[in-house]
Amino acid sequence: MFRLAIRPILFLFQPETAHHLAVAGLRLLCLIPGMSWLLHRRYSVRSASLLVEKKGLRFPNPVGLAAGFDKNATLFPTFRFLGFGFIEVGTVTPKPQPGNPKPRLFRLPADEALINRMGFNNDGVDEFAERLKRRPPGIIIGANIGKNKATPDEQAVNDYLICFQKLYDLADYFAVNVSSPNTPGLRALQDKEPLRIILTALLEERKKRAQVKPILLKIAPDLNDAQLSDVAEIVQETGIDGVIATNTTISRDGLVTPPHTVERIGAGGLSGWPLKAKSTRIVSLMRQKLGDSYLIIGCGGIERAEDALEKLKAGADLVQIYTGFIYRGPELVRSIQKLYVANHASH
Ligand SMILES: Cc1cc2nc3c(=O)[nH]c(=O)nc-3n(C[C@H](O)[C@H](O)[C@H](O)COP(=O)(O)O)c2cc1C
Repeated sequence: MFRLAIRPILFLFQPETAHHLAVAGLRLLCLIPGMSWLLHRRYSVRSASLLVEKKGLRFPNPVGLAAGFDKNATLFPTFRFLGFGFIEVGTVTPKPQPGNPKPRLFRLPADEALINRMGFNNDGVDEFAERLKRRPPGIIIGANIGKNKATPDEQAVNDYLICFQKLYDLADYFAVNVSSPNTPGLRALQDKEPLRIILTALLEERKKRAQVKPILLKIAPDLNDAQLSDVAEIVQETGIDGVIATNTTISRDGLVTPPHTVERIGAGGLSGWPLKAKSTRIVSLMRQKLGDSYLIIGCGGIERAEDALEKLKAGADLVQIYTGFIYRGPELVRSIQKLYVANHASH
């Protein structure tokens, strides 16, 4: 239904317009009495084997919506009916900011990929917090936090801390985003020293709270093996709870889209199918380095249920999707759950 009827219409529009249309359409649909219940029935698979318990959280199933889709925490009340076991909202920054000029989101259909240079467009943490205060029960929400473009890297720790403090009581886990390619200087925060400073500050803040909420680090797929070793070391040394592997890549390798089209699009992070192998490899490497106790979320290029299973077999506890959801719709969420259950039953 999505691929045959809805996607062809949405793909007639600019990607960002299509995003807003799809969201508005879903919201309207959910105004029809009983529709959210029907959607939930359609896209949620009922099986006890889907439950994932880790770091004090109970995920009803292992399929999450990746950060960037619900940047302003406005969509999760509707999107929870599409079968997701958890939704990561954000990236949010302390102050509102417009992001980069449009167009800033591009489809590469031949590669089942997207290139984006959104640049953390968001309403700021105060509005974001107000929306989370009204969150409905029964869904796990992660808050993905970042820094404002205008904040120099040396002061980045304050931005992460402000978001963390304001959202601490409102989210179930935190994702520290130091890996977006669209904020100048951000990925330099993945270096050992700045990373240690940011994570230590968040952990100190967490110590003041009665409830311990997991802190995860979202990493870039473009780190080399030495950098990945450094990241794993800092994760272990500081004692945060795990990683999300991965964000989008700046590489353009292996694309079938003609080079001149890719060049015309310009800078940005590439997501979807071409990212799959790279991020799966990082999941596997991180699991080897970190051992079993850490929470690892696999993200990048999951376009079919089998891709999700590959990430789980590589060592992920949970998976997240973004680009696959744009190309395949909520049927992908359901098919991953079904394959997970089938795979569980055969063991
Ligand atoms: C349009 C767009 C916006 C994104 N915005 C964010 C963001 O704000 N924060 C973040 O951590 N990741 C962001 N991402 C990265 C995704 O969360 C995900 O890590 C990446 O796209 C790889 O997964 P995929 O191949 O399933 O899309 C964004 C991705 C896209 C395509």
